[in-house]
Amino acid sequence: MQEKIIDFLKSKQGYASGEEISQRLRISRQALWKHIQHLKDSGYGIEAVPHLGYQLCGLPDRLFPLEISSSLQTKIIGKKIYYFDLVHSTMDSAAELARKNCPEGTLVVAESQSKGRGRLGREWSSPKYKGIYISLILRPKILPSQAPVFTLLSAVSACEALKEACALSAQIKWPNDLMVNNKKIGGILTELNAETDEVHSLIIGIGINVNNDRKSLLNQATSVKEEKGQAASRIGLLQELLRKLEVNYLTLQEEGTQPIIEKWRLLNITLGRRIKISSHNRLIEGEASDIDADGALLLRKDSGLTQRITSGDVMHCR
Ligand code: BTN
Repeated sequence: MQEKIIDFLKSKQGYASGEEISQRLRISRQALWKHIQHLKDSGYGIEAVPHLGYQLCGLPDRLFPLEISSSLQTKIIGKKIYYFDLVHSTMDSAAELARKNCPEGTLVVAESQSKGRGRLGREWSSPKYKGIYISLILRPKILPSQAPVFTLLSAVSACEALKEACALSAQIKWPNDLMVNNKKIGGILTELNAETDEVHSLIIGIGINVNNDRKSLLNQATSVKEEKGQAASRIGLLQELLRKLEVNYLTLQEEGTQPIIEKWRLLNITLGRRIKISSHNRLIEGEASDIDADGALLLRKDSGLTQRITSGDVMHCR
């Protein structure tokens, strides 16, 4: 009902009388009043003037499902949204929902995480109301070996969303780092629930630093606010991210991995460079020559041999 009230107020130019809203939404004046109080407590600016009614005068800086869904128009991604003020990690909440057979496209959104995690067991700093911390559950019909392409798809979608919603040119460092001016602005973590030849569910975790201030960021990290010099709308960026994820996911289903790989190639800053990779406790050096259809990195070593790398930590040498 609160979603309907907000949608109704959004659709009005000026005030909407209590009577008008009650009649249109078929609720009592008392129930309406209670919902309005609740919405105000959640941060919505709603002006109430005797004889005139209610007017929406401010939206909260919160990633509420009703705000995310408003004008989203996706068919799969974010059709069901679970929202938390604080969780350990959205990855764990999503894994639990996946076990309970939630529909494909279910999204977990948190305003903060106490145990946000990155790749290779690293911590992902998740201060409250500053960033985007989401996990998305997909059930693609793929082999486990093809899962890394979803990391690429998500990184591409995040770059496209940053461009569209924030006019920021982000690039990708293989496999999952979102970079702006050589600093990390976000990252992707993909986790699988699979057997040898079947993926039950795939959970894509995306973290983006949006309104973090310099002092709360690590040296090699940045945020949208840092890069643009002003705060950005987290909700606008998140909606755009979900739209891009859907478009790219549908493309992948219809046309295979090639179009995604092409987009990734254009956005990446790793290919063609001399790199060092620490992978499975070994340091390997060479030139990042290409990625294959499954998203694995092809490293041309000084011996002339090419090694296929599926995971690791990349350092760009020059
Ligand atoms: C990385 O760059 O190493 C990946 C970072 C992924 C962070 C996101 S935030 C939402 C989701 N929940 C987590 O605990 N991690 C991912």
